[in-house]
Amino acid sequence: MRIEIISNSSIFTKNLGKKLSRVISKGDIVLFSGELGGGKTTFISGIAEGFDLKENLSSPSFTILNEYSIDNWRKFVHADLYRLENTGEINGIGLDDYLYDDISIVCIEWGDKIKDYIEKEYLEINLSYLIDKSNIPTKRKIIFNSSSQYWDLRLARFKKILEKSGE
Ligand SMILES: Nc1ncnc2c1ncn2[C@@H]1O[C@H](COP(=O)(O)OP(=O)(O)OP(=O)(O)O)[C@@H](O)[C@H]1O
Ligand SMILES: [Mg+2]
Repeated sequence: MRIEIISNSSIFTKNLGKKLSRVISKGDIVLFSGELGGGKTTFISGIAEGFDLKENLSSPSFTILNEYSIDNWRKFVHADLYRLENTGEINGIGLDDYLYDDISIVCIEWGDKIKDYIEKEYLEINLSYLIDKSNIPTKRKIIFNSSSQYWDLRLARFKKILEKSGE
């Protein structure tokens, strides 16, 4: 399933993340791709807000991976693979510990780099700049892509949530 949404502001993008959090559960993996500064971190901070995480989510570029506790049985993991040069390096960052632990929600920036390495269904989100006649510099195109029954179902629910809020 594929959903395409135009965002006109960072607040809108963050809110989309918050809405998406309603269809995300522990054990889920969301891979983010797209241009530098496209809004990946902004979107992910919206998801975190949806789980009541108050921490100011910064891009973990230097740490590669940040772990937050949602409650006693759920974790929120934010990874950034910008600096990852080859999949061989993945073993060193401990991402595997979270991908399959069934208690973590794992959001990965530049996640397309390890797509083929992940042995579980995932949702893909791509954010790119949209330059058109409107000339709005904060315009972004956000594409949601699922290719599993599990995520198709969740995206369908997400679509309903968007329709209800008039988007
Ligand atoms: N519609 C929009 N959606 C998201 N961010 C936007 C939008 N319009 C403007 N921005 C701005 O663009 C920047 C996006 O930064 P952000 O760190 O979220 O992107 P990123 O994709 O994570 O970047 P990087 O590739 O460096 O990790 C922020 O400064 C944000 O305020
Ligand atoms: Mg980022």
